[in-house]
Amino acid sequence: MKKIITVIGARPQIIKASAISRAIQQNFSTQLEEIIVHTGQHYDHNMSQVFFDELGIPEPNYNLDIKSGSHGEQTAKMIQGLEDIIQKENPIGIILYGDTNSTLAGAIAASKIDVPIIHVEAGLRSFNKRMPEEINRIMCDHVSTLLFSPTKTGYDNLLNEGMKADNKAPFDIDNPKIYHSGDVMYDNSLHFSTLSDEKSSILSEIGVNPNEFILCTIHRNYNTDNKERLTNIFDALDTIANQANIKIILPLHPRTKKLMKTHLKEDVLKRVSTNDKIIIIDPVSFLDMIALEKNSALITTDSGGVQKEAYFFEKPCVIMRSETEWIELVKNGTATIADADKDKIVNDTLQFLQNKAQLSFPPIFGDGKTGSFICQEILNL
Ligand code: UD1
Ligand code: UDP
Repeated sequence: MKKIITVIGARPQIIKASAISRAIQQNFSTQLEEIIVHTGQHYDHNMSQVFFDELGIPEPNYNLDIKSGSHGEQTAKMIQGLEDIIQKENPIGIILYGDTNSTLAGAIAASKIDVPIIHVEAGLRSFNKRMPEEINRIMCDHVSTLLFSPTKTGYDNLLNEGMKADNKAPFDIDNPKIYHSGDVMYDNSLHFSTLSDEKSSILSEIGVNPNEFILCTIHRNYNTDNKERLTNIFDALDTIANQANIKIILPLHPRTKKLMKTHLKEDVLKRVSTNDKIIIIDPVSFLDMIALEKNSALITTDSGGVQKEAYFFEKPCVIMRSETEWIELVKNGTATIADADKDKIVNDTLQFLQNKAQLSFPPIFGDGKTGSFICQEILNL
């Protein structure tokens, strides 16, 4: 039996990790022992525990309970806690997901004590280093031993940064192995879609009909923390709801919920609060989120994960960022980059709503079995 440590902390990491935990439970339970460490970066019930309850992920063996803080404070506390656990558990490797501060902390803790890092969602780049996530992902990739990129673009980014396609085993931090592996999030969307159909009643709970609403999420720090950008985005949503006569459902991240009260210009806050077509709800469970995604007319978001899920469920997507790591979605013509530009958000949304029928979504995120592929490669490490 080989022992691995999985580090999770933020909502999307808990969801991503469920694909590997499921693969271990189904196919590798006699070969891989998984120790789960939750940093506690996300801690509200609907940002963390709800996913353990719903997605069949084992409860964490450890919870560092770090919660929120400045980047330095939060990351430092995580590094210290993770180092102790890694030394105590002595795993053959540590699995890190994506690009959050929990990812960076795991990368620093493990690499300094010579424990191989398996980075799931490697190679993605926005080429915007003002994003904390861009720093986290570059630093993690460059101390990793096995790097699993969900897309060909991600794989090519790693080659462009000097990693080699033909390194031979045994792999280590100086001789890493890079893969174009497919996306564990695609595994999850396939796996949980039927369960969502059976279990979710979110549409009737909030009183919307299939295809008669837009789903929107906003949480990226450069949108929430910037008064002008946040105001432009909400102004655009209010305009769309009125012009297209369509409901907009916003399961709002706690960060956005807090900041919209202080950061929106008064008249926009008033319009949004009194517009009965704009429905702001608390963050929802993953099965409810899938139900909202599958039944939406269109998705508008600044989330990385939600952009892709729009594609998995064949919905057009308006990306409220100035760039995306998931460039394939834009090249395919099913997503558009609207930044926080009010007119562009409104026009792109209205245009997509009119021309939806012409869009196509060829499969580009793997075969839905990426979790098992990654486990097999970890065993060969
Ligand atoms: C983090 C990740 C981001 C990811 C997002 C997923 C970093 C730098 N950012 O951003 O890449 O896309 O998670 O959702 O790691 N809060 C709560 N309750 C919670 C969690 C957060 O109220 O359970 C509030 C706190 O006010 C906190 C703020 O949200 O200060 C931001 O949380 P934090 O984890 O620092 O960053 P996210 O914006 O969630
Ligand atoms: N998600 C969810 N409930 C919500 C909002 C998002 O379950 O209310 C899921 C979503 O389906 C996706 C993941 O959380 O799988 C994306 O996380 P988030 O947008 O917080 O972060 P990002 O992907 O941008 O890092």
